Amino acid sequence: MATKIIAHRGASSKYPENTMFAYKQALKDGADAIELDIHLSRDKIPVVIHDETVDRTTDGYGFVKDYSVSELKKLSAGHWKGWKFRKAEIPTLEEVLEWIQPTPLHLVIELKNNLFPYKGMEEIMLELIDKYRMMERTIFSSFNHDSLLKIKRLNHNAETAPLYSKPIPDPVRYARSISASGLHPYYRITTEQLVRTLHKNGLKIRPYTVNSPHFMAILFRWGVDAVITDEPAQAAKLRKIKMK
Ligand code: G3P
Ligand code: MG
Repeated sequence: MATKIIAHRGASSKYPENTMFAYKQALKDGADAIELDIHLSRDKIPVVIHDETVDRTTDGYGFVKDYSVSELKKLSAGHWKGWKFRKAEIPTLEEVLEWIQPTPLHLVIELKNNLFPYKGMEEIMLELIDKYRMMERTIFSSFNHDSLLKIKRLNHNAETAPLYSKPIPDPVRYARSISASGLHPYYRITTEQLVRTLHKNGLKIRPYTVNSPHFMAILFRWGVDAVITDEPAQAAKLRKIKMK
């Protein structure tokens, strides 16, 4: 199976991350999936933005959790990346689902609930996934592994994969202990041995976030299931060359 390409926050190197600009570009670039990050607004709507605050990627300031969706919608989520993106809004998860549903893209949803627990986030999110019939095309990931276990308990068909940045002693046992079907390690701690061990045990591996062609080529050679990258166009080009 060829390695899949997951566009990290969309085609985020040149387009404003986690906006429709970046997702639409990822589709054009040949990505197989997009990765996005979710938080809950004050009115408990899942919204797509990376940080806990709106400071870095919008023209506002303060915590996402303190804004209602209609207040968040008034902010520009693209201006920081260039004038031509000034009309970009913070998408709701529902808006992205509506857009992605008729495309062939798969989805990786990262729950950003490791700092603020966002009570009820898993239930609210799963309801939307069901509404748009996206369960079979979605992987749930998070640095909050408890939340992934909760998702699995709420819906045993949900596919989960924990994110981690430091080597763990027995990755197979760990993945099984939280009923995950794969692991999403930081790419610099990914080894060929790890890829082999996980595959031998029926587990997937999708390292993040790899942008250098050098490391991408190595991961393609090792046969990882997917790479998570800010540069989907470059990854698609490289994959084509490797497959020749
Ligand atoms: O899904 C991998 C990656 O998104 C994890 O880190 O901080 O970019 O959300 P971060
Ligand atoms: Mg993420």
